[in-house]
Amino acid sequence: MSNEFDNKIKDLNNESVHSLDQCETQESLENWRVDFLGRRGRIALLLREIPKLDSKERGDAGFKANQLKNMLQKLFDQKVQDLNSLISSENNQEFDVTLPSRYIDRGTYHPTTQVVREISEAFYNMGFQIIDGPEVEQDVYNFQKLNIPAHHPARDMWNSLWVDKLSDSGETPLLLRTHTSPMQIRILENHKPPIRVLVPGKAYRYEATDATHEWQFFQIEGLVIDENITFANLKGTLEEFAQRIFGEKRKARFRCDFFPFVEPGAEMSIDCFKCDGNGCRVCGESGWIEILGAGMVHPEVLKGVGYDPNKYSGFAFGMGAERIAMLKHGIDDIRNFYSNDLRFLKQFSY
Ligand code: DAH
Repeated sequence: MSNEFDNKIKDLNNESVHSLDQCETQESLENWRVDFLGRRGRIALLLREIPKLDSKERGDAGFKANQLKNMLQKLFDQKVQDLNSLISSENNQEFDVTLPSRYIDRGTYHPTTQVVREISEAFYNMGFQIIDGPEVEQDVYNFQKLNIPAHHPARDMWNSLWVDKLSDSGETPLLLRTHTSPMQIRILENHKPPIRVLVPGKAYRYEATDATHEWQFFQIEGLVIDENITFANLKGTLEEFAQRIFGEKRKARFRCDFFPFVEPGAEMSIDCFKCDGNGCRVCGESGWIEILGAGMVHPEVLKGVGYDPNKYSGFAFGMGAERIAMLKHGIDDIRNFYSNDLRFLKQFSY
């Protein structure tokens, strides 16, 4: 076979394989096919030269030219297949609207949040404003202005977590508020009567945890101040609240209790919503369940913030949100609320 023809085959081989490699679209592949394998393509032209060759060389030349043609056809077919599968895998990312949807694990509000919201709504509908306050509080607000001076034994009612730093004014120690009551003072200082506010928020105590005690919990504080507010207003408002949360039939009972910032102070109980007061596990067989502390705002507290106790009076109350949630849902251990056990939390999804 002539060297010349042999070289043509080699060159065509190199060129065709190289240019096939460059093809990345269906269009360029088709152009390549027409160029090399088409009826008037480069291979066809090559084959047409064979009859002009020396008769001895024709057989070998035809064999080699056909070999190249077959090889290119195979490479081409493979390339077409590869490109098609690439395109269809890209198309498959489209939506199949007939597929069933994937299950979405939907989050819900924490049971404490649910109860706080429910109670807030009940008071909001009775004309209360809902407000927020700082969790790192000054001694003056958490204690002193609530009629609990430094070193007073009443401080033992609230085991405190002190912050190792004084307030910005440098005078009063900081602590994590042990109750939401300090907001009473902040509100009295910054607002004018008539005042009707509700303050839900976190409180902290330096306490060993057990089934009924957590070192961090939610409280809901209420404060009403105006002229001529009496204990009857306290009773009426709180009984209405209890009925909105625990059912219309509920009766309220008030008994004397002591809190330094109120006089008189009281604890409020409701007749057991489980047994209607007959005695059961929920109420410890007593028929009554204690739900909050309350009282008429102490004249000393009013005087301390510049109010004339002969003109203004009012009542305050405070309750533990988790305690209310525990009663409502029959939860027997407060530690469940903050142990992040999904099996517990999922029971409160809605
Ligand atoms: N702050 C009290 C506590 O944490 C609860 C309380 C009792 C709040 C009587 C009040 C109140 O506003 O009048 O134990």
